[in-house]
Amino acid sequence: MAGRVDAIFLALIAFSLFFTFAICFLIIYFAVKYRRGSKADRTTTAHSGALMEFLWVFIPFVIVMGLFVWATIVYYHQYRAPDDAFEIYVLGRQWMWELKHPEGKKEINELHVPLGRAVRLTMTSQDVIHSFYVPAFRIKQDVLPERYTSVWFRPTKTGTYHLFCAEYCGTRHSGMIGSVIVMDPVDYESWLANGLEPESMAASGAKLFRTLGCSGCHDVNSTVRAPLLDGVYGHPVPLETGQIVTADERYVRDSILLPKSQVVAGFKPVMPTFQGRIDEDELLKVIAYIKSLGKNVRVER
Ligand code: CUA
Repeated sequence: MAGRVDAIFLALIAFSLFFTFAICFLIIYFAVKYRRGSKADRTTTAHSGALMEFLWVFIPFVIVMGLFVWATIVYYHQYRAPDDAFEIYVLGRQWMWELKHPEGKKEINELHVPLGRAVRLTMTSQDVIHSFYVPAFRIKQDVLPERYTSVWFRPTKTGTYHLFCAEYCGTRHSGMIGSVIVMDPVDYESWLANGLEPESMAASGAKLFRTLGCSGCHDVNSTVRAPLLDGVYGHPVPLETGQIVTADERYVRDSILLPKSQVVAGFKPVMPTFQGRIDEDELLKVIAYIKSLGKNVRVER
């Protein structure tokens, strides 16, 4: 993305410089030419030309709309991750970054990624607003408490890149820094395999799903009639209110913490809230598990 973002930035500077110099030049030129006592010709009377007035509105209009459309295209590209992107979960807190690989590996203030693969970050904060900023990748996204934001990138060069928190978040905000390390895919695999075999995010989520009692109702064999979660993630869900929502991270989170807010059509609002019984870290794991169920064939009760 760096090249595309830079192109917009440079174009903006080029336009600004061009008009700044053109206007300054004309101000000075006319000031000198028509200074008091000069012999410049002042006989022409003021006249207005419809064509000229049209052009000085139309040309800037075309320029700014062109910049708008161009930047919008780049913006959409930057904020909609490709389908083959793999997911990293980011948890911001005063004053560190916790980054989790889908395989379960956890890092603090460091993120190792393989060269050439799209990486989608799903981010949330445990306390205040932070902002995930990697200048070399031209990405910056606020990380908010009680909400998920996301941004993606595809590294094109190996190396170590600065990671900053770009939102003042308290005393040691300036120390909330780290690095993104882009590795050769082979090196990345060996890095990932190094150390203890961690449990994948989805597997930890599956365990929580049982220990928190979710499976008591959301399991095929349960006697309580609750929606089954196979094939739900990423698909449209009809609600009691007649609305249809997409089962994304936000929806899953709300369903766990505010279950009465979006009841699935045909079901009773009997689910208790898990507010206070599940922390941000566990929520991300349960979401990873429900995401993994999303790939299954949908089962209806
Ligand atoms: Cu976190 Cu500033």
